[in-house]
Amino acid sequence: MKRMTDLKWWQTATFYQIYPRSFADGNGDGIGDFKGMLAKLDYLQSLGIDAIWLSPCFPSPNVDLGYDVSGYASIAPEYGTLDDFRQFLDGAHARGIRVLHDLVVNHTSDQHAWFRQSRQSRDNPKRDWYVWRDPSPTGGPPNNWHSAFGGSAWTLDEATGQYYYHFFFKEQPDLNWRNPDVKRAMWADVRFWLDMGVDGFRLDAVGTVFEDPAYPPHKSTLSERETLVVWREKRSAEELQVLMTEFGRMFEYQMGQPGVHELMKELRGVMDEYSHPERVLIGEDENIAYYGNGQDELHLVFNFPLMRTDRQTPAWVRANQVERLGALPSAAWPCNTLGNHDRSRVKSAYGNGKHDDALARISLALVLTLRGTPVLYNGEEIGMTDLLLGNVEQLRDNQAVNLYHLARSEGATDTEAMAMAARITRDRNRTPMQWANGPNAGFSPAGVVTWLPVNPNYAHGINVADQAADGGSMLNFYRRLLHVRKSAPALLGGDYGALNVDARDYFAFTRTSAEQTCLIVLNMSAEPQTAHFDLAHTHARCLFSTAKGTGEAIGIATLMLASFEIFIGELGPAKQL
Ligand code: GLC
Repeated sequence: MKRMTDLKWWQTATFYQIYPRSFADGNGDGIGDFKGMLAKLDYLQSLGIDAIWLSPCFPSPNVDLGYDVSGYASIAPEYGTLDDFRQFLDGAHARGIRVLHDLVVNHTSDQHAWFRQSRQSRDNPKRDWYVWRDPSPTGGPPNNWHSAFGGSAWTLDEATGQYYYHFFFKEQPDLNWRNPDVKRAMWADVRFWLDMGVDGFRLDAVGTVFEDPAYPPHKSTLSERETLVVWREKRSAEELQVLMTEFGRMFEYQMGQPGVHELMKELRGVMDEYSHPERVLIGEDENIAYYGNGQDELHLVFNFPLMRTDRQTPAWVRANQVERLGALPSAAWPCNTLGNHDRSRVKSAYGNGKHDDALARISLALVLTLRGTPVLYNGEEIGMTDLLLGNVEQLRDNQAVNLYHLARSEGATDTEAMAMAARITRDRNRTPMQWANGPNAGFSPAGVVTWLPVNPNYAHGINVADQAADGGSMLNFYRRLLHVRKSAPALLGGDYGALNVDARDYFAFTRTSAEQTCLIVLNMSAEPQTAHFDLAHTHARCLFSTAKGTGEAIGIATLMLASFEIFIGELGPAKQL
C-alpha cells in the first residue's frame, strides 16, 4: 500500500492535453500559439491541473497537423519562436505545472531534411534512414500493406525507382529504426528538449515503429473504408471488439513487432540520465508490455480499452479494471483517459442525447477517481462537444478528406460523402477553445477567420467566462473535483477495491492508501438508486457529492443516491478497517 511520499510527481499529477492550434490565438491569425497559451497559464493553474502535454508544436507542413514533423528541435513559426516556448515553459514551471512534448518517432514529414536527403539517390548516406523497397516482381508496391490513413502503405519515388513505406500519410515516411544513426539523431533532438527543462514526452504511435522484415502480405479482408473509420465512429463495445480484431489482422505485420521494447528501454535510459525532476514517457498505446518490468520502459501507457464503448456503464468499467489492473506489473502505474485530439469529445462520445451533461460529469469523476494518472483533453472542462462540419472545404483532417474522396469514387453523392467524413473527421473534436460568449468565442479577435470553425454553442453557455461565473457549471465542477482529488491521498495513490459488483446502475469502489480510505459511488443512471454497503465503517464523511453536503457524515449501510449522483466519502484511516 502506497503512502503519498512514495509517489512520483507523474503518479499524482493530473495531465491536461493542449492542442496548440486550437487553444488560444495570441497574435490574431486564427491559429493558436505560445503567446496565447502563455496568457492562459493562470487559467490552467486555477483549474488545478499539474502537467501539460502539448500536441506537436514543431515545424511541419501540417499534412497531419503537426504529426508530420520537419524539424524536431525547433518551434513551428505559426506557434512562435523558441524563446516564446521557453517563456511558456518557465511560466508553467513557475506555477508548478510540468510540460511534456509530443514525440513522433515512427515517421517524419517528407519535408524533413533527413528524408529529402534519403530520397536523393539510392546511395545517399541517409537512404537507409527510411524504409525503401524495390517494386514487386510484377511491378507495383512491394506488398499489399495498407496505410492506416487510406490507400497503400507504399509510395513510389519515381526518381530512384523504389517505394518508401509509410504507416500513415504518404507525406509521413517511416523511419528505419534498425539504423543506429537514426537513434543517435533522434536522441540528440530528445536531449535538446530535456536539457531545456522539458519534463518528458508523450510518445506518438509507439506500436508502429517496426515492421516485419520479411514483409509478408496480410490476409485481412477489412475494406479500405472500414480501415479509415474504425477508430472514429460511435459504435457499441461489441462492434468495436470485432472491428479491432480485424484491424489487428490487417496490420499484423506492421504493428507491435519485435525490437520496439529494446528501443523503448534505450529511450528510457536517455530519460533516466536526467533527474530533478524525473522525466516521464507516456506511450500512445494500450499494450501493457510497454511498461516493461514497470521501471525500464514507459512510465505510463494509456488505458485506451476503457474508452472503447459508446457508454460508460458499471459493468464496463469494472471489467476494464479487473483486466487492466490484473495485468499490470506490480511496479507499473495506470493511466486513464477518455478523450484526446483523435477521438470524439467525451460529452459527445458517452452522451445519450438526453443526459449528456450529467454523463460528462460522470466520465470526469471516473478518470479522476480510478487508480492511475488521469489525462484530460482541453475543452472537456467546459463540456465542449463535437462539431459536425458541413462541407468538404472546411475539412482540415486529411484522413477525412481521403474518406470523402473514397466515398465519392464509390458512387456516393457529395452530401452522402460529406456526411460520412463529418462523422469521423478529427476536426470535429479539434475546434477552437471557447473562452467567452463573444466573437470567435474569444479564441481569436473579432473578424479573424479561425483555422477551423468555432462551435456556435459557445453562445449557449459552453465557454469559460460564463462558466467561471456560474457555481453549478461544468468548469466549476471540474475545479472542485480536481481540488478534492489533490487533497485526498487515497484518490491519488490508493489501491482499488471493487464493491457491490452486481450492481447494474451504479459503480462503487474503494481507494485505500496508507493514510486514508475513500468510498466512491457513481450512479451512472438517471434513476435514483439505493446502495447497501457492509463495511467496517457505518458512515463516510462526504468529500464531494452532487447531491449531499460536503463535510457531512453520511450513513452508508443504506446509501440513497440521486440521479447521476457522484459521491466521494472518506471512511477514515485505513488501519481502522
Ligand atoms: C497518432 C496521433 C495522431 C496522428 C498519428 C500519426 O495516432 O495521435 O493524431 O495522426 O499518430 O502521427
